[in-house]
Amino acid sequence: MAVQLVNSPFTGSIMKIAVLAGDGIGPEIVAQAVKVLAAMKHDGLKLELEPAPFGGAGYDAHGDPLPEPTLKLARQADAVLCGAVGGPKYDALPRLQRPEQGILRIRKELGLFANLRPALLFEELAGASSLKPELVAGLDILILRELTGDIYFGEPRGRRTNSRGEREGYDTMLYSEPEIRRIAEIGFQAAMKRNRKLCSVDKENVLETSRLWREVVKDVAKNYPHVELSHMYVDNAAMQLVRNPKQFDVIVTGNMFGDILSDEASMLTGSIGMLPSASLDAGNKGLYEPAHGSAPDIAGKNIANPLATILSAAMMLRYTFNLEEAAQRIEAAVKKVLAQGYRTADIYATEMRRVGTSEMGDAVVAAVRQ
Ligand code: IPM
Ligand code: MG
Repeated sequence: MAVQLVNSPFTGSIMKIAVLAGDGIGPEIVAQAVKVLAAMKHDGLKLELEPAPFGGAGYDAHGDPLPEPTLKLARQADAVLCGAVGGPKYDALPRLQRPEQGILRIRKELGLFANLRPALLFEELAGASSLKPELVAGLDILILRELTGDIYFGEPRGRRTNSRGEREGYDTMLYSEPEIRRIAEIGFQAAMKRNRKLCSVDKENVLETSRLWREVVKDVAKNYPHVELSHMYVDNAAMQLVRNPKQFDVIVTGNMFGDILSDEASMLTGSIGMLPSASLDAGNKGLYEPAHGSAPDIAGKNIANPLATILSAAMMLRYTFNLEEAAQRIEAAVKKVLAQGYRTADIYATEMRRVGTSEMGDAVVAAVRQ
C-alpha cells in the first residue's frame, strides 16, 4: 500500500462533503466554515453539502452516536466536516453510547489513521499565547498523531474484580508494525515538505509498544536520508514544547501521546480555538474538525471561536481536494481578519474588535471574496 500525503488533483466534478456538526458549539462553528466554503464557489468549486446527526445529536435522533445513515453518508462523501461532540447531558451514558464513541468509531470505520494537527502561530496572536511572545514568534509545528490504534483501541480492555475482591479497570496499549510503519511514512513525507526534521515521541524507556515503535521508525528512516530524525520521551517532549517549542518541525507520535501533546501545543498558538485538524486515510479521504471540544458552557451564545473549524475547511481543500491555492486563500483571509483586529472572546485583547461567532465568520467570508 502506497501511502501518500498529497494525491493527484481531485477529478470528481462535485465535491461531496458530509457535514456532522455534532453538539455544543459544533453547529454554530460548522455553520461559519460552511459559509466560507460556500463563498469559495466563485472559484468554480462545486460543493454538495449534506448534514447528518452525530455524537450526542446522533444519540438523540437514533440512539447511537454514529447512526448507520450518518456512517453511510460519511463513507459515500469525499470528505467529512465535523464540529465537536459531547456534553453533560450524555455523561452518564454507558461508554459505547457516549458521543465520544461516535468520533472514535468514525475514525476507525473510515481508516483515518493519520491525524495532522498543525500548531501555527499567526503573528497577530503572539500576545495571546501563554508563553512569552519571543518563544512563540514564527512558531510552525506539525503534530502528526496516529489515530486508529494504541490504548484507544487495544484489546483486551474492561473491568474485573481481582482475587482480593478489588475492582480493576484495564486497557491495552498495542501497536502492530504495519500501523507504525504507515504513520512513520506520513511523518517523513510531511517533514520532506517542510523543514526536514522529524521528532518521534515515545516512552521507549518503559513501554514495549514504544520499543517497537522506535525500531520501526528507525527502519523507515532509511528511505528518507534527507530527514533529520530524533527521538524523544513523551515527558521530555511535553516539557520541551513549553521550554523551546521552535526546536520542532514535525512530531510523530501515537494516539494517546498525540492527544495530550496536541492540546498542549494548541495553547502555544494563543487559543485551542485556533487549532484545526485533518484525519486522513490511505487515499484522498479525510475528516476535518477543530482540535477543541464542544464547549457546552458557551454553546448557543455566539461567542465561540470558529477559526479552527474554518482552518479545518482549508485543510480539506488542501488534502482531500488538492486545491492548494484555495486553501491558502482561506488561510490568508483568517490572517487578514486577525490583522484587522477581529477577535472572539478567547483571543480578545484590549483595543481589538470583539466579535461573536457569526461576525467572525462573516469577516472571513468578506476577506476570501476580496
Ligand atoms: C481529540 C479528542 C478525542 C480524542 C475525544 C473527544 C475522544 O480529545 O480529538 O483530541 O481523545 O481523540
Ligand atoms: Mg484531545
